[in-house]
Amino acid sequence: MVTVRRLPTSLAARASATFDLRIPGEQPVRDWLAEASHGADAVLCVPGLPINADIIASLAPSVRVIGTFSVGVDHIDLAAARDRGIAIVNTPGVLSRSTAEFTMLLLLAAARRSTEAERLVRAGRWQGAAPGEFLGVDVFGKRLGIFGMGHIGQALARIAGAGFGMEVHYHNRSRLSPAEEAGATYHADENSFLAASQMLCLLAPASPSTKLWLNADRLRKLPAGAVVVNTARGVLVDDDALAAALRSGQVAAAALDVFPREPEVPAVYLALENVVLTPHIATATVETREAMGKLVIDGISACLEGRRPANLVT
Ligand code: DGY
Repeated sequence: MVTVRRLPTSLAARASATFDLRIPGEQPVRDWLAEASHGADAVLCVPGLPINADIIASLAPSVRVIGTFSVGVDHIDLAAARDRGIAIVNTPGVLSRSTAEFTMLLLLAAARRSTEAERLVRAGRWQGAAPGEFLGVDVFGKRLGIFGMGHIGQALARIAGAGFGMEVHYHNRSRLSPAEEAGATYHADENSFLAASQMLCLLAPASPSTKLWLNADRLRKLPAGAVVVNTARGVLVDDDALAAALRSGQVAAAALDVFPREPEVPAVYLALENVVLTPHIATATVETREAMGKLVIDGISACLEGRRPANLVT
């Protein structure tokens, strides 16, 4: 098996028990992949490294499965994989809680300006506590808008509702059952959803209909001084429009864990103090990465043994 990134030790050991695990060295991964795939049954990939039609065409004929260390599969050209008879497996169901937890962390960090304040302390510029310094806004009791109410959105709604007394609103392709909704307010209408969202969290998958969804027009429809968090995919946001809203104060603060062309971070954010930037780590806990690794490696093995795993995408 070829992996495009190094794995945590325990997962590397797990994979090595079954596979001859090939790990990239200094060479750019894209160049290395085609050569390294010779004789390999499977490729293990991650979001942020597009497995597009060209890359799929360059893989050796021995490759029968691509596993992705993610629930999102937008970085893989599924049609090209299907045409080559390559199965795809992912990691659903094991990362909802850690992603929801990190989304809440980013919401708090943005609203309470904690990373901006930490930068000041580390730079040795703190002059002592003062009543007017670093005033953020309370998260407690605010209206939370969740765009994309899948398992992660529902986990976030539980944390935000039970822990922070937030009133949860959501916009989704379809309305959830009352049990899944758990008291959250569904908005079929995007405008009423945006108007309700004092704090907006993006949790929808990347698709043609969600690409650049948070654009200038929709940002204007948020309550003034809204807080925006994106732990879904960078392509959901028009970065120039969000940066303009952060500069004008229409959006008081934002926190972004994902970007359109990772690891590149849009330059428009770098000079802004009111945006928290993290390197796609919403699932990065020991427990979750372990569970993701086990799921994807087991899924790859199942496909190679002719079984149909529950995490088969296509
Ligand atoms: C996912 O599972 O899609 C995450 O973005 C990976 O960290």
